[in-house]
Formats: sequence, C-alpha cells, structure tokens
Amino acid sequence: MARINEHYRKLKAGYLFPEIGRRVSKFCAENPQAKVIRLGIGDVTEPLPSAIIAAWHKAVDEMAERKSFRGYGPEQGYDFLRQAIVDNDFSPRGVRIDADEIFISDGSKCDTGNILEIFGADNKVAIVDPVYPVYVDTNVMTGRTGPCDDQGRYAGLVYIPATAANNFVPELPKERVDMIYLCYPNNPTGMVATREQLTRWVEYAKANDAIILFDAAYEAYITDPAIPHSIYEIEGARDVAIEFRSFSKTAGFTGVRCAFTVVPKSLTGTTAGGDRVALHSLWNRRHTTKFNGVSYPVQRAAEAIYSAEGKPQIRSMIDFYLTNARLIREGLESAGITVYGGVNAPYVWVKTPGSESSWDFFDRLLTTAHLVGTPGSGFGASGEGYFRLSAFNSRENVEEAVRRFRKVVG
Ligand code: MLT
Repeated sequence: MARINEHYRKLKAGYLFPEIGRRVSKFCAENPQAKVIRLGIGDVTEPLPSAIIAAWHKAVDEMAERKSFRGYGPEQGYDFLRQAIVDNDFSPRGVRIDADEIFISDGSKCDTGNILEIFGADNKVAIVDPVYPVYVDTNVMTGRTGPCDDQGRYAGLVYIPATAANNFVPELPKERVDMIYLCYPNNPTGMVATREQLTRWVEYAKANDAIILFDAAYEAYITDPAIPHSIYEIEGARDVAIEFRSFSKTAGFTGVRCAFTVVPKSLTGTTAGGDRVALHSLWNRRHTTKFNGVSYPVQRAAEAIYSAEGKPQIRSMIDFYLTNARLIREGLESAGITVYGGVNAPYVWVKTPGSESSWDFFDRLLTTAHLVGTPGSGFGASGEGYFRLSAFNSRENVEEAVRRFRKVVG
C-alpha cells in the first residue's frame, strides 16, 4: 500500500488563487451576462514587446536547421543569458555576482518551494505575515510545521507581522531563526524595504548564522532611487542570502516561464556535525538532477530583455502597469479609502471598509460590482481587514474597476 505524505493533510483546502478562481467561475456560470474585471492574481495582460518576440522567433528558426539545432542545454542556463543578467542587473549596481552563481529556471514560485530541499527539516523558519502563500505551503508540504490553527497559522513557523504600524516591514524576530523569507517590493502589500531596514536583516542573519531567502520578483517596479533592487546591494549579503528573480512581472513572462535564482558561492550552511558546506554546490546538485533547463528559444527571448531595443520596450510596459497602480491608488484615496503600496510595486493594499472581513468584502465586490481582487486574509492572519488589487490589466478595465470600487464603498 502506498502511503501518502501526511503533511499535505495539514494544508488548508486549496491554494489561494485556485480558490478565488473557483468562486469567480461559479459566479460567472450563474451570471453569464456579468462583465467581470479581474484584479486578483497578478497576471500580466499586455503582449510581449517586439524585441522579445523577434529574438524568440529567430531562436525557433535556429531549431529548424541542422547546423543551429540544439538539444539539452546546460541545466543551469546558457552562458549568454547568465552573463546578460550579471552585466545588466548586478554589475551596474556595484554588485559582484558571477555568472555561474545564477541558475536559470522556469519560475520563482518553483524555486522558492524547491530551495527547501537543500535545507534541514529542523530549521526554524520565519514568515512575514501577510505573505506570498507559497512560502508557507511548501514548508507545510516538506514537514516543517505542525497543524494549522483557526487563523491559518501553522505551529512551528515564526510569524512576524507586517502591519500599517511598522509600514509593512516587520521587526526582527524576538527568537532566533535559521531561515527568513523576505519579499521586497512586497507581495501582497506593495510596500518596500529601505536600505537601512535591509541592512538590519542582513546583520541579523550574520549574527544568527541564518539564511535570508530574498524574493525580488518585483524589483523592476521600484521607482524610488534610494530603494535597493537586490539584497546584494547590502554589504555582507553574499554570505547570508539567496535571491529569487523572475521575468514574469518584469517582462510579461507569466505564460513564457523564465526566472533565475542567485546562490553566491560564499554562502554556506552547516552539517549535523558542524562543518560548513557551500549551498551553491547543493543547489547545483539539486538543479542538475531534477531540472533539464529552460528551452533555448525562451532563454534567447529573455536575453532580448537586456538588448538596446528590448530595454525601452520593457520599461514602457512596466510604466504602463505602474500608471495603472497610480490610478487605482489615487481613485480609491480620493474616495476616502485607505490604501498602501502601488508606488514601487504593481499591487495596491486596500483597507476594507468598516469591520467587514476580507472574504466577505471579496464576495460583496464580486456579486455587486463584478470585480475580483484578493482577500488579504488569504495571505495570512495579519492580512485580515485588507484587500489586494493588482495593477495588471488593460487601462480601460482598471479605470472601470476604480469606478465600480468607488460605487461599492462610496
Ligand atoms: C500573485 O498574484 O501573488 C502572483 O501573481 C502569484 C505568483 O506570482 O505566483
């Protein structure tokens, strides 16, 4: 008899976004005339820029010729893409990252979950609350937690609240932890961490021999020049942090699939006997054993993000979504609604009116305004009383969404 992984039974019924999808599909089936606008999951809507499409086409054509055809590529990614990342994302910011410290993958969601395989099950893990739910669920799946309480908090995890009182950047944990997930610009609150705040985290990690798992999937949305784009802009971070980056939101790649993880060679963890082992070699071992690389044409498409033609095209796409975020923010604020984020990130974090719960507000907005957002409590107990709106949609839909939202709460 094949026994199941019992840890899966601790998980709450469904992953957040499929649960939203289920409620929306049910509503649409019962109300086929409703024109539903979706600002729920952060999924891009704008077509890929021409420089990316041209590079992708060219690479597909190469696959049609014997002389340029390619089979398996390097599991860690082609050198041309790894080097383009170093030259464009890190060197200009004064950050020393070597090309072989970059692992190309098909997504940060997968990488943030898979990274747990190289860490011991008994590490103490700190989770910012509210949080991107993948960090929590993958810890549950790998047996690092006990059961879930009524508020959705799992025993064994150390929750560190990010609230309006701390500007959505949590205090350092009171107890010692071994691993900390940080995501800035933040999903879901759309807020950022300053250089000083990130420095405190790096210092904490150094003092406690902890590892920071830094998710920088939204770094391209930073508009404030004082905000770091990478944890490695903080001195000493090479010795304590792994960084996750994605082309999904940067370049409209949610349906293309390409991302990367940076594991500096100076980063180490300890064996049960107290010896230091390079995390780079463990991740390399994991990646090359379980992954066969991202397809050649997709990596050429990703490389084009950094080309002279691609850069301004990508910039204007990001600016388009940032303008959407501003319209949402300003439209709601002028109706007296309290909002956060949306300046350096494509998410706006909205205080739900009155004492309505996040899910009740979700249902009311869906049924009365045919508008979809994400209930804050879906990101954790501290998200209760909040609602996330994504700026990823057409201008027309965003403007209409703001009108509908104001009508519901006005
Ligand atoms: C979100 O809406 O939080 C993200 O799009 C989900 C993801 O990146 O997996």
